[in-house]
Amino acid sequence: MNFESDYGIKSEYGHFIGGEWVSGDSGKTIDLINPATGAVLTKIQAGNAKDIKRAVAAAKAAFPAWSESSPAERQEILIDIARRLKARHKHYATLETLNNGKPIRESMFFDMPQAIGQFELFAGAAYGLHGQTLDYPDAIGIVHREPLGVCAQIIPWNVPILMMACKIAPALASGNTVVLKPAETVCLSVIEFFVEMADLLPPGVINVVTGYGADVGEALVTHEDVRKVAFTGSVATARRIIQYASSNIIPQTLELGGKSAHIVCADADIDSAVEAATMSTVLNKGEVCLAGSRLFLHETIQEEFLAKFKVALEGIRQGDPLDFATQLGAQASQMQMDKVQGYLQLAAEEGATVLTGGSRSADPNLADGHFVQPTVFTNVKNSMRIAREEIFGPVTSVISWSDEEAMMKQANDSTFGLAGGVWTRDIARAHRIARKLETGTVWINRYYNLKANMPLGGYKQSGFGREFSHEVLSHYTQTKSVVVNLQDGRTGMFDQ
Ligand code: NAI
Ligand code: MG
Repeated sequence: MNFESDYGIKSEYGHFIGGEWVSGDSGKTIDLINPATGAVLTKIQAGNAKDIKRAVAAAKAAFPAWSESSPAERQEILIDIARRLKARHKHYATLETLNNGKPIRESMFFDMPQAIGQFELFAGAAYGLHGQTLDYPDAIGIVHREPLGVCAQIIPWNVPILMMACKIAPALASGNTVVLKPAETVCLSVIEFFVEMADLLPPGVINVVTGYGADVGEALVTHEDVRKVAFTGSVATARRIIQYASSNIIPQTLELGGKSAHIVCADADIDSAVEAATMSTVLNKGEVCLAGSRLFLHETIQEEFLAKFKVALEGIRQGDPLDFATQLGAQASQMQMDKVQGYLQLAAEEGATVLTGGSRSADPNLADGHFVQPTVFTNVKNSMRIAREEIFGPVTSVISWSDEEAMMKQANDSTFGLAGGVWTRDIARAHRIARKLETGTVWINRYYNLKANMPLGGYKQSGFGREFSHEVLSHYTQTKSVVVNLQDGRTGMFDQ
């Protein structure tokens, strides 16, 4: 297949530095693969520390003018980006699906609207970002909010265009400049975004360096001109980021993994909860940090729930992600496929029972891609590794419960705390559980109920800082207190 003519994809992409597309210093490239077929889509630059130096220099040079741009100017750019994304949302959705393996119906109706929504949300924030005044009898206090400078942003491969949007939109709105490092496995949509938007962005305001994390991450985050790092990805990499950030004492926002509790009470609307658990299992092939991958079922409704859950998952249409009928696509990379398969094997060793799925897809038409069956394990104990570690695949572990207090202890017995869900018609119980859950987001009676401007972020090892809402602006600004004295003359402290 000729991707260039069919999808407008170039055969190779450079780094985007200072408004220009440039070759990398190493001369090496990385293939971007379609995980549903194994086909090579294009090549990106394998960046190194020299590329990072160039990009940070460009971002630093762009900062003075950009930080003094008017809110109107920044707002207009963000609105123009949103308009262009809307106009070509099918194109971007197709690129996301080609490189990531997620079903096109998801990239069109989930990823793209969410990504566009970030630009719309923060377009308004350019004006909303203002300081504060405090009145004293003898003084006026003014609190200014100022941009930080050059920000490093490192994003993963599971929802790349949305991750790019939720990172760059607030940075732009608040007058910072950026060096963005997308994931080396999936970033086609992100790179094509900058091909289209280059004319909107003043040169150097956003720079993109591609490459392996190990080759560019340290150089980027430890660079003396970088003032902040925002990272989404694994806990293991986050530990490195924190170390890098310690060299120049720069602030971090970290959005890491999850093992979220999805709690179904005895009085729940079972059919709706089954639909939610199905969605949580298959959405983006389970490669979602927010997935409700620990499903706590009250013992009185467990049998009915599992019977319906099994039927729902066995009816899921897995196949060509570009087919609009497809509901479950391919894992994003060989690495991810291997990781998920490792956990499928481990579940058996740990003594869990397979309710449905449990292996790679048996469909011969899907043999070239990374397709895993939607899988549910029952008889899971919260102490098992399949209940403690993030699998990041279409896999849900069911834990049975009877006593609310004991269940809550287990739900909170996790190193993670990103999201959670509860199904009950009892309003007091719903709030009691929501309050007790040690997690950044709780959805009552609808999982994945993502709403614009609701803060999103983690407790515990799921990270810190909140994105997707105006709260993130506090992470992209620093405050300056200016005190204006209203009294003439000396204070008289030194008896003069
Ligand atoms: P990762 O954390 O290694 O990769 C995420 C990003 O960090 C990529 O852009 C990568 O190139 C970059 N990176 C890697 N090493 C780096 C370094 N030393 N310095 C700076 N940047 C670096 O995640 P990975 O290995 O792709 O996935 C492993 C697991 O992490 C997944 O199976 C999943 O459980 C979890 N994960 C969670 C995500 C989330 O949304 N919170 C997203 C991606 C992965
Ligand atoms: Mg890694």
